[in-house]
Amino acid sequence: MITFSATENIYIDTNPAKRAYQKIQENPMSGWLTIPTPETNLEDIKLTAQKINADSDFLICIGIGGSYLGHRAIIEALGNNSKTKILYAGNSLSTKSLHKIINEIGDANFSLNVISKSGTTTEPAIAFRILKQKLIEKYGEEEAANRIYATTDSKNGALKSEATKNDYKAFIIPDNIGGRYSVLTPVGLLPLAVAGLNIDDFIHGANELFKNPEPAYQYAILRTLCAERGYDTEVLATFDPEMHYFAEWWKQLFGESEGKNHQGIFPASVIYTTDLHSLGQYIQEGRRNIFETFIGFKDAKEDLTIPESVEDLDSLNYLAGKSLTYVNKKAYEATVDAHRAGGIPVFEIKIDGQIDETSLGGLIAFFELSCAISATLQNVDPFNQPGVEAYKTNMFRLLGKPGYTN
Ligand code: PA5
Repeated sequence: MITFSATENIYIDTNPAKRAYQKIQENPMSGWLTIPTPETNLEDIKLTAQKINADSDFLICIGIGGSYLGHRAIIEALGNNSKTKILYAGNSLSTKSLHKIINEIGDANFSLNVISKSGTTTEPAIAFRILKQKLIEKYGEEEAANRIYATTDSKNGALKSEATKNDYKAFIIPDNIGGRYSVLTPVGLLPLAVAGLNIDDFIHGANELFKNPEPAYQYAILRTLCAERGYDTEVLATFDPEMHYFAEWWKQLFGESEGKNHQGIFPASVIYTTDLHSLGQYIQEGRRNIFETFIGFKDAKEDLTIPESVEDLDSLNYLAGKSLTYVNKKAYEATVDAHRAGGIPVFEIKIDGQIDETSLGGLIAFFELSCAISATLQNVDPFNQPGVEAYKTNMFRLLGKPGYTN
């Protein structure tokens, strides 16, 4: 279960959020509210994952933005339970990164999961072309085609055409779901299943939140109020370093959904206590345009106890016998109090569970819903990203892409 709380015990009127939610339900891009989607065949995903686990030491997930951040967030947070290591390509144009992947694979067996809704995004398309060539060199055309899994649109795009022509195994990204809302479709579910994670629990966690959306309403209302009062930067704070990619997913979700018409809350993130020794100073005493949202899970199962020392040279004996989790928890409480006292509006999202598939599924749904509501309350379309085109047009012109030259 997820609960939400704010700086002070204030009454939050969630009626505007409920009205925004009604609008969202009527929006043709709200397919992500029904999970699994009618197009998603969970058995097929699980069987495909078994095949990949049986024949591949590596699965390279090729995609960018919403086509990769969600599943990477979950896999980095939970770890990989399978023998198939997941690598990520096509999320930049860096030669070094792609070389690193090619070197890491070496002579091992591998497969590709190319993920692109439009099927035309440059970064994954280039990585796919290069890695597909490696696959063909190693296995020949026919077996290479057996090792390519295309997650894309049901009808349109270059990737769809190629998948049909070469008979790649294909998974559908439904028409009514955009990239950054797609982690609970095959975009995320196939890589998660290959990593040996429980996709049923993940879906269950999300649906629990959709059944009880009140905390998401509260968060959406309060962050919108913050924006109206000039707090134009939100910092997502976690005390669990394995949540780093989750924060990256969150930034993409909110940044692309809200940052339009010269407005929107700038999404930033910190990993504490690490960043208490860097950005913590700014947050405590810098410009007062920041509000902060903490994510707190239940204690981890595994723990470490701080040992007693006879000499106590480091003066830590006052903590002897205490667990590291206990200390991390006290650091969390201390930081929340310090930042509140420093004039930062602080929100807390508390998850009544450890970091697992169910809690992360719930958190994904929590943020998807609150993001769509917040954007709607700020009168922007939560589901488009027109601003992304500007760099592409310039880049295509510079690269001499047909149709883009002057
Ligand atoms: O959220 C979005 O829609 C974007 O971040 C896309 O996911 C990203 O641009 C990749 O697009 P595509 O899946 O079409 O390659």
